[in-house]
Amino acid sequence: PRKIIIDTDPGQDDAAALMLAFASPDELELLGITTVAGNVPLTMTSRNARIVCELCGETDRRVFEGADRPMVRPLVTAEHVHGKTGLDGAVLPEPTMVVQSRHAVDFIIETIRNEPVGTVTLCTLGPLTNIGLALQKAPDIAPRVKELVMMGGGFSEGGNITPAAEFNIYVDPHAAAAVLGSGMPVTIMPLDVTHQLMTTKARVARMAALGTKPAKVMVEWLEFFERFDEEKYGSDGGPLHDPTVVAYLLKPELFSGRHCNVEIELQSELTVGMTVVDWWRVSGRTPNATFMRSVDADGFFDLLIERFARL
Ligand code: BDR
Ligand code: CA
Repeated sequence: PRKIIIDTDPGQDDAAALMLAFASPDELELLGITTVAGNVPLTMTSRNARIVCELCGETDRRVFEGADRPMVRPLVTAEHVHGKTGLDGAVLPEPTMVVQSRHAVDFIIETIRNEPVGTVTLCTLGPLTNIGLALQKAPDIAPRVKELVMMGGGFSEGGNITPAAEFNIYVDPHAAAAVLGSGMPVTIMPLDVTHQLMTTKARVARMAALGTKPAKVMVEWLEFFERFDEEKYGSDGGPLHDPTVVAYLLKPELFSGRHCNVEIELQSELTVGMTVVDWWRVSGRTPNATFMRSVDADGFFDLLIERFARL
């Protein structure tokens, strides 16, 4: 199996991504879960990561706590989307699992240094702060990373936190810029992809029909999460973002995009955090990321349901 670290700020859709990874041990070896401030403050994202582990009986998982704020800018959170706890929608017990004593940034650095070169994949589901800090502290890790797959950014879909910027990139644009400038192979799952993945009533009903506790809780989370997005996008259900990262590792053929140059706007207050995607290769800048634009939505939901059936 492919060795991965999941860096996350749960979030209902982050939870879906973690659960998809738990359900896929043949393909993915989850070395650790690292948490970051994003959707809600760090103490809540660390709590939520452990709640998701316990919900799935995955109490041996290691959760490492990371950055409590972005590298440069002040923290912006998204309780308006995810609720006060970040996992509103379901009532679950407080976690009893402990958080590891090592800092997430040190865990990331040590893991990449200790595992053979080109074997560790970083999966980021929130602001990229922990990876940005790891690169700052240990630039030698960049050429050792197999791939970094992130949910973030947007091209033709614009932004979801400002007209120009997607939330994960907006919260820590400096960290995103550090990742894109690091030379590591980067794959991006932007809003262009996730806005094609609507949690329609029919799809949520398939999840509900699984009948298991994790599936039932996921339905409650999706229904909470989509309440915000349905109003916003006027759609049947809302977009499902973070599980795209894990789905890509399981079935890359579901996605298509282009290897091109992607830079992050850091100067303009109007467009800060915007992903400037050179889709048409007009800049002459070296391609540094594979930017996905489309997805087989039915194939994605088939995979999600098939895997959730195993939880
Ligand atoms: C991203 O922002 C968060 O609200 C979601 O968890 C996802 O990672 C979507 O823009
Ligand atoms: Ca997230």
